Amino acid sequence: MKVSAIIPAAGQGLRMGGDIPKQFLLLQGKPILHHTLAVFESCVDAVTLVVPEKELAVTRRQWTSGIVQQVIAGGAERQDSVAMGLRALDKDTDIVIVHDGVRPFVSPAIIKESISAARQFGAAVTAIPIRDTVKKSTADGWVQGSVDRENLWRMQTPQAFQYDLLCEAFEKATRDNYYGTDEGSLVEYLGRPVKIIAGSEWNIKITCRDDLALGEKIAVLLEPDPTTQ
Ligand code: C5P
Repeated sequence: MKVSAIIPAAGQGLRMGGDIPKQFLLLQGKPILHHTLAVFESCVDAVTLVVPEKELAVTRRQWTSGIVQQVIAGGAERQDSVAMGLRALDKDTDIVIVHDGVRPFVSPAIIKESISAARQFGAAVTAIPIRDTVKKSTADGWVQGSVDRENLWRMQTPQAFQYDLLCEAFEKATRDNYYGTDEGSLVEYLGRPVKIIAGSEWNIKITCRDDLALGEKIAVLLEPDPTTQ
């Protein structure tokens, strides 16, 4: 069984401020992307890394080795970047697992469980249940009503799929010019079932300076305890 990961890391990271896209900012002294790739090393057969066009040459020099089989340029939206990654995969791929480059705290256990759920169910997305009260508002900030939080989830990545199913979902989305904010929504749009599996509160998406500060704390928390090694 051939398992390929697509790591979309082609965002410009504008919310973070500054010139460096957030996926290349340092966490524990190394680029965020470095941490993300390190987790995938032992879990998949190959990684396709999708980066901004202007970072292509330097990223290829730095990262095309080991598990990273190819580095390609991304598109305008995240979905375009994943579509380009999908087109670049070998046609004999069985399972595709998509994971945001800016989620460095994903665990090998979650990756492996996603892959195994995708084998069994076709499509598997990681998520955590919503525990806070949820309300809908008007555009100018007045509460319009409360939303029942039962069976509501916050989606994360990784999201894993049987290769043929994901290709079909992207083909339909492209044909209809349908855009979703995750791959799971494209499979839903195709009318096929998507299984939810447990994500993790540590698996944050680093999108702003506060996330980076929180990330430094999470990295320390997740460090293996040397006294038990
Ligand atoms: O857009 P968002 O913040 O949700 O980004 C999630 C991931 O998708 C990031 O790793 C980002 O670099 C990537 N992305 C991409 N291509 C884009 C926009 C975002 O690969 N055009």
